[in-house]
Amino acid sequence: MSNNLNFADVQGNILRGYGKQYVRHLVLTVANASAARRWLSEATSGDESAAPQITNAEPWTERRRTCVNVGITRDGLAAFGVPAASLNSFPHEFVAGMAARNTLLGDTGPSDPSKWKEEWKGDGVHLMISVYADDAQDRTATADRILAARGAFHLRAALDGDGFPGGVVHFGYRDSISQPQFYGVHDPDRRRDDQPFVEIGAMLLGHATPIENLRWEVPKPNVLGYNGCFNAFRVLEQQVVEFEAFLSECADALIKNPLSEVVLPPGEEAKWDPPMSRHAALREVVAAKMLGRWRNGVPLALSPITPSPQPAITDAGLNNYGYSSDPDGQRCPIGSHMRRSNPRDAKTVQRNTNHARRLVRRGIPYGPQYDPAHPVKAERGLLGSFMCASLTGQFEAIQYDWTNLGLQDPRITGSNDPILGNNDPLFSRFSFPVGDGMVKFRGFPHFVHTKGGAYLFQPSMSAIRHLATLSGGGTVNRR
Ligand code: HEM
Repeated sequence: MSNNLNFADVQGNILRGYGKQYVRHLVLTVANASAARRWLSEATSGDESAAPQITNAEPWTERRRTCVNVGITRDGLAAFGVPAASLNSFPHEFVAGMAARNTLLGDTGPSDPSKWKEEWKGDGVHLMISVYADDAQDRTATADRILAARGAFHLRAALDGDGFPGGVVHFGYRDSISQPQFYGVHDPDRRRDDQPFVEIGAMLLGHATPIENLRWEVPKPNVLGYNGCFNAFRVLEQQVVEFEAFLSECADALIKNPLSEVVLPPGEEAKWDPPMSRHAALREVVAAKMLGRWRNGVPLALSPITPSPQPAITDAGLNNYGYSSDPDGQRCPIGSHMRRSNPRDAKTVQRNTNHARRLVRRGIPYGPQYDPAHPVKAERGLLGSFMCASLTGQFEAIQYDWTNLGLQDPRITGSNDPILGNNDPLFSRFSFPVGDGMVKFRGFPHFVHTKGGAYLFQPSMSAIRHLATLSGGGTVNRR
């Protein structure tokens, strides 16, 4: 299916992972509306000497050392001079902002917006300019040029994410394996995996979506909304020490449970690469059951009892699976993070949404990598961008219906995602079937705390040029 997409009009990070190891997210307030609009104009002028250019989605003829992208909040659009009528044509959840949606998102307790980092509090979060680079010096040089933009912006925070070797994130899992592929964007002859292609309207406004005859409404005027995308940006602090301790507790319990001999036949762990003790291997079994992949990225659906299957699964094969042949979750638990977030071909209560709530995920770890030999407590987590055409229809629906409530399958309804969910030790439970039995764990806390975030609109390149032509703005009239 062709969608006649103008790649030069779309911001690049929506359709392509740049694969950069160094990211700096500049969280900004518009300090001077005219100067800020001038920056938008210069950053889309094609003249790299005027300003670092916002990267579009055109194919690259050669690798770019740095890339720049922009997301703007509702208050930011107002600060650039977008009139109230236009602001009110944006979806209500975007207008309200991420903090106001906290109960729906499970941002309560330690994740409550009142406990967020200062830079995310109040009405002054206007935009986030993200710099992606192959090396740390280029990142700093590009970010410094942006900040030097003649009084345009006030810097609230510069958030650095540094990638770990092998694409691993905190908790030790390999990430960024599964991403949607879109009709008209990804070449069917060079498809990354055998997952169904998705209509580009799941990501960009103004295009057909995976649900027949449904298009998300384009905010007005069309030049501002068309080809835009929403980005739920989250600062997710990960409690790695607690997570690892929980795996040990689960292995302590599992090793005494006869079902452990079914889930991991005795002696199997000695054949793993590297071989492990029984206890260490059972920790890995629990980690894999919680996510849906072993920590090295091998999916349970393809390899339920070993992270090192023979023959080995190639990188290209790591995403070639579904759940229809595993209806009860004997291999990959129905309540695991991945199966909740993307049920693929599994039967769900909301059957027509199986492939309609797809998200593009761009994430990078922040903070020091955890070293089990020297378990140091430090702030560490994920700077995560979850992109989609509808925040409420996709991001919030996943986070609320599937992650927090488990509404997709009555067998997990009322339980939370074991990795991500807003779990309370009083009520938390995670279970997975093993043959005719069921392994159950209870009493664990939430391992991921939200420390800030914002609902951003990633305008098209024409929309950014349109914003640059506006007048007024500067002060923000909130609703
Ligand atoms: C610190 C928080 C998080 C961690 C550590 C985490 C970790 C992971 C990992 C390791 C994978 C598997 C890698 C892959 O297949 O690409 C994954 C997949 C995924 N995650 Fe997360 N995640 C986090 C937060 C979230 C959030 C907030 C959402 C959305 C609400 C989300 C949605 C997804 C989706 C949609 C997938 C792909 C599932 C699939 O296609 O089968 N994740 N996550």
